[in-house]
Amino acid sequence: MRGKFITLEGMDGAGKSSHIAAILETLQEKGVEVVATREPGGTSLGERLRELLLHEAMHAETETLLMFAARREHIAQVIAPALARGAWVVSDRFTDASFAYQCGGRGVDQSKMEQLEHWVQQGLQPDLTLLFDVPVEVSVARLAAARTPDKFERESAEFFHKIREGYLSRAKAHPTRFRVIDGNRPLETVRAEVIAILQALA
Ligand code: TYD
Repeated sequence: MRGKFITLEGMDGAGKSSHIAAILETLQEKGVEVVATREPGGTSLGERLRELLLHEAMHAETETLLMFAARREHIAQVIAPALARGAWVVSDRFTDASFAYQCGGRGVDQSKMEQLEHWVQQGLQPDLTLLFDVPVEVSVARLAAARTPDKFERESAEFFHKIREGYLSRAKAHPTRFRVIDGNRPLETVRAEVIAILQALA
């Protein structure tokens, strides 16, 4: 039986990284093989592209194309084979991030993004997307307190407002796949909700 494909999304500072370990543990308790991966990245080529994407200035469409180049490799080498053998795949970000950051944040044309999505994914979509949502002020404050920022994390509050809008409109357009999680609550409360959602998955 094909495994399930779960993606984690949210603005920088929304808190998704704080829950990854608990997510993997909850799924492992189901007795399934769990593959944890991330984007951009997930393969050796993808990780090299990640270095460029996170630290090098480039045209917004170049950024988009490199995201999808990394994604094509990620699907071919990691995601599709894992799902085919029945493993569950948890990816820290996937295509919704491209819609939020490159379309929402940078203004890349949505129909171009849809073409890339169709071309690269050939119908593959996550079964479940957990969107960690916080007000922009919260994310900006958390980022200011964190480690050295990458290229995206150095962007303005205005940029993050567009990211948040981008994510929320994606969630609205795909209501059965998305679960929007209010990340502006104590960590334990958020974690309990995430675990409950995953435990309920068949
Ligand atoms: P992130 O997932 O936040 O990793 P870390 O927790 O190590 O900082 O970093 C990835 C960055 O890449 C994030 O700022 C969002 C950005 N990104 C895009 O702009 N488009 C995409 O399609 C993807 C997958 C990520």
